[in-house]
Amino acid sequence: MYATDVADDLSEVLYTEAQIQARVKELAAQIDVDYAGKEPLLVGVLNGAVMVMADLFRELTIHAMMDWMAVSSYGSGTQSSGVVRILKDLSTDIVGRHVLVVEDIVDTGLTLTYLLENLASRNPASLKLAAMFRKPEANKVHIDMAYVGFDIPNKFVVGYGLDYDGRYRNLKDVAVLNPGVYA
Ligand code: PRP
Repeated sequence: MYATDVADDLSEVLYTEAQIQARVKELAAQIDVDYAGKEPLLVGVLNGAVMVMADLFRELTIHAMMDWMAVSSYGSGTQSSGVVRILKDLSTDIVGRHVLVVEDIVDTGLTLTYLLENLASRNPASLKLAAMFRKPEANKVHIDMAYVGFDIPNKFVVGYGLDYDGRYRNLKDVAVLNPGVYA
């Protein structure tokens, strides 16, 4: 799905599919260099990270592995509560592994703070974070991010994995949702 398919629901396209794919290639090239000879384990956080993981992973020219976690970070509303529950844990033992967590977005940072602490306690050789989008104005806690696709404004954005009520994840562009949709 493209922004033109749901034009009435969107107020502004922030990044097109082409811009996103170009940025993913740049991040992959950096990861190739930084993890040469290390065979990193990329850990995707379901569901939003599916798109960026699929694209980033295939751009890597080094050996790498993939695993997934599912957490519930939001309560009933659209704001992160900071209360995180692990719904699906890793299948991989990460002791001594170079772990790179892959996220679609870091918003308040509360989910990732919990997740990184949890993963760090399992004694990986290294632990870093890659996120396609970051909302600097929404960050409530500082998180060191090794790889960031784009910094975006503190608005309700959808597409490339980001949803509103489960919808718009399959939007190839990333756009600001028209407030009329969720009012
Ligand atoms: C999103 C996103 C992060 C988290 C970021 O997931 O994928 O995991 O929110 O928010 P925070 O920085 O404010 O904690 P969400 O809970 O919406 O689930 P989803 O990936 O299935 O969309």
